[in-house]
Amino acid sequence: MKATKISEIEQQLKINATFCVKGWVRTFRAQRFIALNDGSTLDNLQCVVDMDQFDDTFLKQITTGASLAIVGKLVASQGSGQKFEMQVTEIELLGVSDPEKYPIQPKKHSMEFLREKAHLRIRTSTFSAVMRVRSALSFAVHEFFQEKGFYHVHTPIITGSDAEGAGEMFRVSTLNPSNPPKNEDGTIAYKEDFFGKETNLTVSGQLEAETYAMGLGEVYTFGPTFRAENSNTTRHLAEFWMIEPEMAFYDLDDNMSLAEDFISSVLKKVLQRCEKDLAFLDDRFAKEEQAKPQLERSEMGLLEKINFVTQNKFKRVSYTEAIDILKNSKPNKKKKFKYPVDEWGVDLQSEHERFLVEKHFKCPVILYDYPSGIKAFYMRRNEDGKTVRAMDILFPGIGEIVGGSQREERLDVLEKRIEEMHIDPKELWWYLDLRRFGTVPHSGFGLGFERLVLFTTGMSNIRDVIPYPRTPQNAEF
Ligand code: 4AD
Ligand code: MG
Repeated sequence: MKATKISEIEQQLKINATFCVKGWVRTFRAQRFIALNDGSTLDNLQCVVDMDQFDDTFLKQITTGASLAIVGKLVASQGSGQKFEMQVTEIELLGVSDPEKYPIQPKKHSMEFLREKAHLRIRTSTFSAVMRVRSALSFAVHEFFQEKGFYHVHTPIITGSDAEGAGEMFRVSTLNPSNPPKNEDGTIAYKEDFFGKETNLTVSGQLEAETYAMGLGEVYTFGPTFRAENSNTTRHLAEFWMIEPEMAFYDLDDNMSLAEDFISSVLKKVLQRCEKDLAFLDDRFAKEEQAKPQLERSEMGLLEKINFVTQNKFKRVSYTEAIDILKNSKPNKKKKFKYPVDEWGVDLQSEHERFLVEKHFKCPVILYDYPSGIKAFYMRRNEDGKTVRAMDILFPGIGEIVGGSQREERLDVLEKRIEEMHIDPKELWWYLDLRRFGTVPHSGFGLGFERLVLFTTGMSNIRDVIPYPRTPQNAEF
């Protein structure tokens, strides 16, 4: 008999019909009640076993973690926990699970423990809810751009250029690491490497996306990006997924409006489509917050935060205004910031971003017009000569979720900036070509997908919203 998903059974509610379900045992109580989960929904299906009908030694093999195919009749439930249940007529034991060794027991496990069991943690309610929300968000991302007529572009993963100019890249090489060929001056001869040059995993698909926007108009990439920055925080991964739209003829205001519309739109979709998972995560979030000291607790619940973002305009504030606010802020005056804000031009730390969003404005904030010294080479220089048309979107509990800008479309200005930043223009010949042949004003941004999932699920560590996190000293699985 073909298996029916538990989510479908829930939706159709055909009482008295016979179904086959296949899944994993969450619990088996009193040799009578199997809670079966198949991943299609948060809910387990309660399967009621008539003990007289099955052999005792057979039933003993049904333990938490085992996989089963069950045939039975759907009936209204007598119990209080669920509206319906299945009266079991057949059980096929697909795979046993040693109850002494199976680590995912029906009790609360710490996130740290589950990270070490990342290959099995998807069988918990929390991780399955998070990953269903992640999947729904991913779909909503494509839907948003496709409906707007953007084209999806697959930008390369292996690249010869450092898009962000931050030098935090993972090298890709097939040279023998213990005996690489050398140039006469002793440096490694990358011309003998696989690609005949030094190559790395990409930190961003932006530069290549820009080339496509200069022919297709509006495009987006949604791919993996890699950063070898040694940031052991709850917001950083060495491998993460980024959504990068790039649009010809957009200025910075158009860019900000698109980003805002994009975030609200995907959140609204997920609110509709993941109601049950989000209700569960909302409850989980509330419990986690309760366990924190009063001062550290979030002022809003998870669903409240998501709804707030979809219903309110983001506050647009220039970097210069933000610095004034921070300089005069209580924590700055009382020396509570780890990095004091004393002069215009400093880079904002996450403590400053969170102060602006969580304490001062109490809503998502778009900061724009940053000092050129703290931003990438490709951002458009403003008339003041000091700032560039950058924008970062800051979110409560997350800090920076989006980084973007209007791009420098003027060849001479861009060349000058590349020189100032000691970047080799030869590496960017193709990027500069865009400014030689039919240059146009254009803009784009990058949204860190895991930071969006983090916000939407209310999880507290980015390692728990991606199946297999890659972080310094950790690439298990
Ligand atoms: O601000 P970033 O570095 O911008 C870019 O890479 C641009 N090329 C984007 C563009 O304009 N097309 O990164 C963009 C976003 C950040 O706002 C953050 O959400 C996320 O990517 N991000 C990370 N997420 C997880 N782990 C990390 N190590 C991240 N670094 C950046
Ligand atoms: Mg950034």
